[in-house]
Amino acid sequence: MRTLDAREAFLQKYYANENELFVSLRNLAKVNKCDHMIVAPSEARTLKFLVEMAQAKKVVEIGCLYGLSCMYMASAPSVSKIWTLEKNQENAKIAQSFFDQSSEKNKIQLLIGDAHDNLKQLNAEGPFDVVFIDADKSGYPNYVRWAYQNLRVGGLVICDNTFLGGSVWGEDIERKTQTQIKAMLEVHEELAQSGRWSAHTLPSFDGITVGIKL
Ligand SMILES: C[S@@+](CC[C@H](N)C(=O)[O-])C[C@H]1O[C@@H](n2cnc3c(N)ncnc32)[C@H](O)[C@@H]1O
Repeated sequence: MRTLDAREAFLQKYYANENELFVSLRNLAKVNKCDHMIVAPSEARTLKFLVEMAQAKKVVEIGCLYGLSCMYMASAPSVSKIWTLEKNQENAKIAQSFFDQSSEKNKIQLLIGDAHDNLKQLNAEGPFDVVFIDADKSGYPNYVRWAYQNLRVGGLVICDNTFLGGSVWGEDIERKTQTQIKAMLEVHEELAQSGRWSAHTLPSFDGITVGIKL
């Protein structure tokens, strides 16, 4: 989890108070030094809120880590199934152990391996209502193309970290690769300018861009 400033603490108190399972997941991530990769409580609540507003039944998540964002989205009452994709075997093993303890476990299917390969086997399960992208940044353009082909009209693509640490407007560019910056700018151009989406970026910690498929 990122630094819990006063604004985040306020939002968490009213809107995103986390249960014991989520707290233990975040604690394990802290021990394993990957807690900064997990969406903050208010962002996780935003995700679930978007899924609820879309009345989403079928959801795809690209980038599972330990499964926190997946379990948030799965807890939206409308969701009947969520496929979550994770490349790293160890992360996937830990995520599955949390899913097994979750009341949403019957809704969740974890696909282990590179999402660029595994997404192909999901084509037949669509169209989907929501696709959440939170994995390799240079892969985002490819994931957004897949989302467009596999979302229903009116479905949402949700992309995390679209400020890329500020590098998309020229800050801290040395912390990101040119390939990552170019890929993220391509995503903004596609979502904002292609005419295929109605889109906006929510100014969260690192930007959450949401596109409605037109
Ligand atoms: C930022 S973390 C996801 C955090 C998670 N969405 C959450 O907030 O709880 C990104 C994850 O994507 C995985 N990943 C990176 N590249 C991938 C790929 N090509 N296919 C599948 N997973 C990938 C990483 O191993 C990592 O666990």
